[in-house]
Amino acid sequence: MCGIVGYTGRRDAAPVLLGGLKRLEYRGYDSFGIATVGSAIEVYKKAGRIPDGDPGAVGLVGCTGIGHTRWATHGEPNEINAHPHMDCEGKIAVVHNGVIENYAELKRHLQERGHTFRSETDTEVIAHLIEEKYDGDLLAAVNAVLPLLQGSYAILVIAGDTQRIVAARDASPLVLGIGDDEVFAASDMTPLLEYTERVIFLEDGDVADLMPGRYTIYHGGLEVERPIELINWCFEDTRKGGFPHYMLKEIYEQPQSFYETIRAGIDEHVRRMVMEADEITLVACGTSYHTALVFKYLAESLCGIPVRVEMGSEFKYFTPPLRGLVIAVSQSGETADTIAALKMAKARNCPTLAITNMQGSTVTRIADETLLMRAGPEIGVAATKSYMAQLAALMEILNIRCDGEFDDALSHAHLAIGDVLLLDIQDAVDLCSKVEHVFFVGRGPFYPVAMEGALKMKEISYVHAEGYAAGELKHGPFALLTPETPVVAICTPGPTYGVMASNIKEIKARRAPVIAVGVAGDIELPEIVDIFIPIPNTHLLVQVLTASVVLQLLAYHTACALNRDVDKPRNLAKSVTVE
Ligand code: AGP
Repeated sequence: MCGIVGYTGRRDAAPVLLGGLKRLEYRGYDSFGIATVGSAIEVYKKAGRIPDGDPGAVGLVGCTGIGHTRWATHGEPNEINAHPHMDCEGKIAVVHNGVIENYAELKRHLQERGHTFRSETDTEVIAHLIEEKYDGDLLAAVNAVLPLLQGSYAILVIAGDTQRIVAARDASPLVLGIGDDEVFAASDMTPLLEYTERVIFLEDGDVADLMPGRYTIYHGGLEVERPIELINWCFEDTRKGGFPHYMLKEIYEQPQSFYETIRAGIDEHVRRMVMEADEITLVACGTSYHTALVFKYLAESLCGIPVRVEMGSEFKYFTPPLRGLVIAVSQSGETADTIAALKMAKARNCPTLAITNMQGSTVTRIADETLLMRAGPEIGVAATKSYMAQLAALMEILNIRCDGEFDDALSHAHLAIGDVLLLDIQDAVDLCSKVEHVFFVGRGPFYPVAMEGALKMKEISYVHAEGYAAGELKHGPFALLTPETPVVAICTPGPTYGVMASNIKEIKARRAPVIAVGVAGDIELPEIVDIFIPIPNTHLLVQVLTASVVLQLLAYHTACALNRDVDKPRNLAKSVTVE
């Protein structure tokens, strides 16, 4: 994970780097650092989050520099292990996102040659290796070192005697921003939005030589052209806009993210691919895995398409037999496990489709086709509006397979999503914020919705939560039910309403309080549960969306009641680029 940013141009680099790192903090936030080229390299590093207007950092001089925000892999999160890392003489500085797998061997070799290491990181070897090769030509030195590195990297390198940055990527993302008289580099496009809409997505194996107002890209030693693309996001989308947290803002943006994704539609190539598939396999992780499961339930029951859903992290080592279309679902498009699975599907000659929110991300480069979600930048670590946009994209696929049967439901869904934002769920929040464990249960597509509700709850409130298929609770977890273990049950009209109501009564008989999410107008459910939260009585597809929003709000307000760091929960990062 980790986020990196670089700048060379006419502005003071330090504020640009710090602002950029703040936008990348979702990738890791246990320590940060920047280095600029003044009369020599100046470095500022600190453990913890990036404070606003830190005088030590802002005071660094120079118009060329690099920065890093860290999610620790090698060595604990402290100031010494924070990037940038330097060579022995302090003449070379490096920031790195990725993992150098052969660093121990390289380090031993460098130590034998007299290099002194300061940190426990894998990254520091890069600085010392470049030191060995550097004779005034930074590009040549980096080019000489890259073949020695095994693993994944996006790196930015500066030297104290030149106003240039050398950037390189292999299996970690790196984007260039092209301004007038200035060039930016970053792990994704969010730090660039403030300055330019013109970006270049570097390819694996690319090396870029960046100077104020000039850049040259090389691949395999030869100069190459990479297209300049226009970003379809705007800077304002990355601000909190008066909300106390990004997560709440993003929950409130869901009517729009659903609507925009549906409105964008699906291009002819993707449409054909979807129509031709006689079987679909989805690979994903975390929240994206849950949206994939929702799709499975809906597609199999409503359209009769066989759908298999695989966790990215399992897929690579226990690959199932593959037939038909393989869809990788990933908000960031950079999740290592999902990428590995997608590569395997490609290797087996399956047609592949990426559903992602990130233009130019790695999955878009691997998959045959891309379906871009229109969620806009999602900054909160917890996925909310990207979950909604994924469901929009997947429901659109479903709709195509069902000859437009859901046109009406999908084109009005955003209104119902907007309605549930206004629900009063304070009683449920009061209950959940006083307990240590909460169960979430549902059946059919509401089972993955329950799993997602539990993931949101544990991720941001740290209240232990489990999502279960409602019928499974009696096969073991019943032993945990007490008056202090609330169960959130999603129970809407349909074939499983009766059996869900029975399940709820069984739970109540074990004296566990029940919070039910049901439809407005239900007269039976409010009688048997402790707290009833009514969602609009709409189409099944829309109920899936609105019930999900209720659970997001429950997690959010519970986390706030417990004073948690909602946007940056402990130990997590938004984009998980390690296996
Ligand atoms: C959920 O709130 C998390 N952010 C996490 O589970 C996330 O969905 C998972 O890491 C997959 O990320 P992706 O969609 O970017 O691939």
